[in-house]
Order: sequence, then C-alpha cells, then structure tokens
Amino acid sequence: MLDALGREINYLRISITDRCNLRCRYCMPQGVPCVPHEDVLRYEEILRISRVAVSLGMTRLRITGGEPLARKGAPEFLAALRQVPGVETIAITTNGVLLAESLDRLRPARLDWVNISLDTLSGERYRDLTGVDGLAQTLEGIHAALAGGLAVKLNCVLMRGINDDEILPLTRLATQLPVDVRFIELMPVGAARDLARVPGAEVLEILKSAYPDLAPAATRGNGPARYWQSPAFLGRVGFIDAMGDHFCGQCNRVRLSSQGFLRLCLYHGEGLDLRALLRSGADDEQLRRAMEQAIGGKPEGHHLETGETGGLSGLSKIGG
Ligand code: 5AD
Ligand code: SF4
Repeated sequence: MLDALGREINYLRISITDRCNLRCRYCMPQGVPCVPHEDVLRYEEILRISRVAVSLGMTRLRITGGEPLARKGAPEFLAALRQVPGVETIAITTNGVLLAESLDRLRPARLDWVNISLDTLSGERYRDLTGVDGLAQTLEGIHAALAGGLAVKLNCVLMRGINDDEILPLTRLATQLPVDVRFIELMPVGAARDLARVPGAEVLEILKSAYPDLAPAATRGNGPARYWQSPAFLGRVGFIDAMGDHFCGQCNRVRLSSQGFLRLCLYHGEGLDLRALLRSGADDEQLRRAMEQAIGGKPEGHHLETGETGGLSGLSKIGG
C-alpha cells in the first residue's frame, strides 16, 4: 500500500521478543526489563496480524528481536508464517549464536535471507562486546547457514576506538565467503549514545584504498543499504548510513513490537496498539482498516541529528 507521501510500504519487521541471549554494549548491556508473559503477542496473534498486513501489500517479512531464536518455538512459527497466503519473502535477523542448532528446524520456513550480527572476529573482543563467549558459535552459524544454501548478510556496527581496526578483516569475509558484509552506522539511541559511530563515508574511503576496483553495485536492495562490489569479492559490501544518508524518503517499512505495537517509524513514537485492538475482539476487517489508516499517516522521517529519538530506548525493543 502507499502512505500519504506516496511511499510504497511493502515490508514489515516483526519483533517476536525483546529478550536476548547477548548483552551488546550498544544495545542492552544490562539486559531488558522483564515483560509479563501475557503482554507479549502469542504466535497465533502475530500470524493473524501478518495475514492482514500481507493482504495490505506488506509481502516482505523480517523476524527480529531481541534475539528471535531465543524465543521458544521460533522455527515452527517461521514455518507457519511461510504458509500465509501472499507472503513473498521471509528473512530473519539474528546474532547467530543459536543458528547452527536451529537450522534443521528452520528448513520448512525456506528463509530468503539470514542477517547475522558480527562486529568483531576476535573471540576476546566478542566476549567483551556482548558479555558472552559466543564467537565460535556465531561463526559456526554463518558457515552452517551457507552450507544449507541460505543467503547470508553480515551486519557490522563499528564503534570508534572499539572495533574500527577491524574494517578490513571484516570486509575480507566477503572475499572468502559468498556473503554481503554491511557496515551499519551506530545510531545514537539508548546505550549507544555513549559510543562514537564511524561514518560510512570514512569506511568507504578505507575500502576504496584497499580495493581500487571497488564500484557501486548495479542494483539497490529492498532497503536503505547501498552496495559496492569488486572482482575480489564473492559477495558485496554494503553501507547503511542512518546518520549520513537520509533515506527516509524511500522508506518502505513499518515495525511490529513483540507487545503488538505497530510502530510507523523507528524514531517516532506514533503507531497503533494492535494488541488492544486484537484482544478487544476486532475482526480482520477492523484490523485491516485500522492498519491502513495508521500506515497512511506514517511520519516523513527521523530527526536524529537533533537528538530526537521518539522515545526509543534501544533497538532491542524493535529489532533494528
Ligand atoms: N545502532 C546501529 N545498529 C544497532 N543494532 C543494535 N543497536 C544498534 C544501534 N544503536 C544492530 C545490531 C544488529 C541489528 C539487529 O541492529 O548490531 O545487527
Ligand atoms: Fe542482542 Fe542484537 Fe541487542 Fe546484541 S544487538 S544485545 S545480539 S538484540
């Protein structure tokens, strides 16, 4: 469907849990407050919202968290999502720690993409940044996903003075494996406010020196990433410059929180309490009309430069 600004909204990001098995320094270093069980949408409720969303044209779905694979039954839920009529693509964003052990159960979901967070290749630094000694499991997840024929993107968030010395080692993964390596600019929300981002433009200069034949990739993905390629790469490198590149004019997405709030823009508090609507007995047509109206009024974009984050306290609530 189109919003009031003529943007085609075809992508829904669904967080199925705020909880995570890691404690990333820029995300939820202290963990997240416990949410009463009944406040979290049940899988059947998410499936119902998804059916309505797909019928409105949001045919591309991404499951996020927290860590989605940390919620019980996640692979079976993904398989059920695959059965929703009209769904075109299903992807997952995961930290990868539980991926290898989940792959067999994930097969029926026929995932189109698996995005795995990887901010360092040093085991010690991984532990330092996430609170968990999980690098080996994450790398195993990446290799197992590729071996299983899945399309893999790696999400790397650089922090000045913390892991910005790993730009080239992380990029090198794209020369060794058929993966897209994406550098995501740190967004100044929650715990990340105390850390310094590394502008994508600066990373690009470093990569251009190391790979003189680096050239913009012909096609743009279905999102804010800008991709570059080189004959040296099996995959591509990408940049998601939330701060440096104001991509709100092409935004195609809305987000559903694990508590059933349809958030229209990452950095605006506005949205629709679908859980309340659902649990007060609304039928599918009422859900559909409410979603259509809310999405029609999607805000024009963020104003992060001014420090305005629309009440967002960290990405764990809404999955990036
Ligand atoms: N800025 C940018 N990316 C973030 N992520 C979590 N917090 C931030 C932030 N403040 C990323 C994770 C993961 C994805 C879910 O969101 O690294 O790749
Ligand atoms: Fe978990 Fe991802 Fe947040 Fe790290 S960034 S704590 S892996 S949700």
